[in-house]
Amino acid sequence: MEKYVIIGGNRLSGTVRMSGGKNSVLTILPACLLSKGACIIHDVPRLSDVYVMKDVLKCLGAKVEFTDNTMIVDASNITMVELPDRLTRMMRASNLVMGPILARFHHIIMAYPGGCSIGSRPMDQHLRGLKILGAEIVEKYGYIEAKTNGLVGNEICLDFPSVGATENLVMAATLANGITTIRNTAREPEIVDLQIFLNAMGAKVKGAGTDVIKIVGVKELGAAEHTIIPDRIEASTFMVIGAITQGNIFIKNVIAEHVETVISKLREAGIEIKEYDNGIRVKCNKRPRSVDFKTMPFSGFPTDVQAQVMGLMTVSEGTSIVTETIFENRYKHVDEFRRMGADIRVEGRVAIIKGVKSLSGAYVESSDLRAGAALVVAGLAAEGATVVDNINLIDRGYEGFEQKLRRIGADILRVDGGKERH
Ligand code: UD1
Repeated sequence: MEKYVIIGGNRLSGTVRMSGGKNSVLTILPACLLSKGACIIHDVPRLSDVYVMKDVLKCLGAKVEFTDNTMIVDASNITMVELPDRLTRMMRASNLVMGPILARFHHIIMAYPGGCSIGSRPMDQHLRGLKILGAEIVEKYGYIEAKTNGLVGNEICLDFPSVGATENLVMAATLANGITTIRNTAREPEIVDLQIFLNAMGAKVKGAGTDVIKIVGVKELGAAEHTIIPDRIEASTFMVIGAITQGNIFIKNVIAEHVETVISKLREAGIEIKEYDNGIRVKCNKRPRSVDFKTMPFSGFPTDVQAQVMGLMTVSEGTSIVTETIFENRYKHVDEFRRMGADIRVEGRVAIIKGVKSLSGAYVESSDLRAGAALVVAGLAAEGATVVDNINLIDRGYEGFEQKLRRIGADILRVDGGKERH
């Protein structure tokens, strides 16, 4: 099991470039399955989740080449419509192949997906939508089988603006016969990125970024080339790192509009943030003020940044109230923060954080991807050494995390069973 060893207290400064967005690439890669031609995708981050998705595509028969940060996916010759438990358990986003495979090959069998342990993550919205488009679905022995004689456009209204359900249903509808209108859709930037890619392949999708998406089905989709949008969660994490280390960081390759809610919350906490055409500068030279926040679907405060900003609140001046509304079990980092000296009380979906002057280094464990990143954030500011265990979870979503941190002055090492790795 690999660990990070962090010596806290350095004020981080310098320039750091954000990678392509994890959540964007995890929907764009399954979308390649809709195409009869080879698709070229640029700025693909080298993350463990991306390697799992690559294996998923290969398991279905796609040819995949991954050089530097460019991936070429040729799904012209899909040979399998069945995904084994071994692959789907490794990642929730494996369920995003369902819409494309069903739409193009009219049949898919897959085991229920796994993912981070942040709460129950049902697929009812995905399956209900696919049924409305004409799929027959059987759930048995831990597997989902969907079949159709050809999907047919229809009206779908989601009960909740689920990101994955919106993506799956938009992809499925691109090859359905007729027009599909999906209401109460998620409005995340990754869905806009998906729409751009689908339309480049020849699809007719309109409305991504709003809560109504309209898709006019087409007979087939072809090759396309696309560059993934920057990772807004990675950028938000680095903003928090700039703030908690009282540093001065320039974050390149970020779309400010995608992180506006986080920027405004951090400004409220007294952090200086300037937006430029080519990036964002984050500066802080005093203890931040406590702020309250509540996670919401985009453009609200992202649940994927809750743990990191809570980390900042543990050392802020005053009391902060955090409310998690998206996932019911997303406070596993709280006990670990407490080991570092944080004062936090959790009541249901609400966490009350009384800021302390400083945290102290401790041995802590990541429970999920963002919780792990938040422990690194805390460790960078804590007095003494922090060991963050289980960092394979952090590798799911941060490309070259420790290299990027070291370049801006962090004292962080990856340790593998007692051995150091730079
Ligand atoms: C995506 C992101 C994840 C982020 C989340 C919310 C990817 C690969 N992952 O996950 O990083 O934290 O959005 O912003 O893009 N739900 C149902 N039924 C469904 C689907 C979802 O009840 O059929 C519930 C979930 O249990 C959860 C909430 O809706 O409580 C949000 O889930 P959803 O928006 O679907 O998240 P994901 O697409 O899984």
